[in-house]
Amino acid sequence: MADTLTITDNRTGKTYQVPIESGSIKAMDLRQIKAGADDFGLMTYDPAFQNTAACRSKITYIDGDKGILLYRGYPIDQLAEDSTFLETAYLILFGELPKAGELDEWTRKITMHTMLHENIKKFMEGFQYDAHPMGIFLSTVGALSTIYPDAKKIHDEDVRRLQILRLIAKVPSIAAYAYRHSIGRPYIYPDNDLSFTGNFLNMLFKMTELKYRPHPVLERALDILFILHADHEQNCSTSAMRGIGSSQADPYSALAGAAAALYGPLHGGANEAVLRMLQEIGSVRNVPAFIQKVKGGDGRLMGFGHRVYKSYDPRAKIIKKTADQVFSITGRNPLLDIALELERIALEDDYFVSRKLYPNVDFYSGLIYQAMGFPVDMFAVLFAMARTSGWLAQWDEMLRDPDQKIARPRQLYIGAARRDYTPMSAR
Ligand code: CMC
Repeated sequence: MADTLTITDNRTGKTYQVPIESGSIKAMDLRQIKAGADDFGLMTYDPAFQNTAACRSKITYIDGDKGILLYRGYPIDQLAEDSTFLETAYLILFGELPKAGELDEWTRKITMHTMLHENIKKFMEGFQYDAHPMGIFLSTVGALSTIYPDAKKIHDEDVRRLQILRLIAKVPSIAAYAYRHSIGRPYIYPDNDLSFTGNFLNMLFKMTELKYRPHPVLERALDILFILHADHEQNCSTSAMRGIGSSQADPYSALAGAAAALYGPLHGGANEAVLRMLQEIGSVRNVPAFIQKVKGGDGRLMGFGHRVYKSYDPRAKIIKKTADQVFSITGRNPLLDIALELERIALEDDYFVSRKLYPNVDFYSGLIYQAMGFPVDMFAVLFAMARTSGWLAQWDEMLRDPDQKIARPRQLYIGAARRDYTPMSAR
């Protein structure tokens, strides 16, 4: 029969028909498969969710084998070429490209919300002088929930929309303050005459000049990098956002959790790890030995491999092009030669080829950020800033989805069977 899966249970001889929809079966349809009346029913075991769709989504499409990435149907290379980050964020959040008036209104509203409450500034001042900016970022985003208690009304669409505006507008200010704090410089207030990325550069790098003027090439390059990082469907941090949001926590708390998930070196911390790896390799002539070490199981080639992409990450291709534009202004990052040699050898080596390990978005992004003057420990913060739009879109989509409930995976219990408490004297 078409569109059904027939399952025969050899334990009972019973046959079951399970509907196939959108290339999947519902895990709950397996519950009917029971060995006996008091059997709980069959579950699936899928650590790390390698083959489980946890939602239906209209936001981002990835074909990992063909290296295709679409936001709301639009190819990532076209958006990187022709769109801006704020326009792309609108697209991701609301499903369509904005008309001229809509984009102006969206930009105006974001611009109006860039200021941080002075108490948040004081809160940030409490961190150690050498605190990692990502630790500051995620704690401060979480702290915003105390400033905006109305955000708890997550079922009110207008309230949700206001928090979305606030978060997209305020994350650059938090990111910039976190950076200025870590280098002991005064915080710079937003400049509403500048673009989203221009203002961000202003808050990061302004010194004593009366008006900061961002370099247009660097401003655009950063905008492109933000477009590339804006969403990536159900990755680790987005799953955290949805998971926390599913308990109906406010979006600031959920986003703090998503940022925490992003912080790890296998996710958004990877571009920082790439830079540290390139620095450790030190020279092109050390590349073959490093590759041998990785192949021997001692460490990973950071910035390579992806759970979904089994071909060249389309974002990495765009980043390589952007890198050339940035280096023409800033000068070439000396670590680039090491990266190019690593890529050249890895793409010819059977270890990487047979495992379909290609450069991912983070392989080159750190080199650009470093050339633009960002310290290495700001890289994950930049990723989080851009991904905020994706996290919020996914959170909003989840709250509108009647299929969704509080996230609550099952487990296969493999611990001790029931036993009686042993007194200390008998242990
Ligand atoms: N270097 C060396 N070997 C690797 C690498 C790597 N970067 N990535 C995977 N492998 C090997 C792995 O050892 C395994 O080999 P074997 O089959 O012999 O055990 C095989 O490839 C499959 O790896 P996996 O760990 O099962 O793959 P995964 O889908 O669970 O992991 C990944 C995906 C991104 C976590 C992993 O490729 C990795 O650790 N990459 C380095 C970190 C990195 O660059 N992360 C950024 C991801 S892109 C940005 C983002 O979306 O966050």
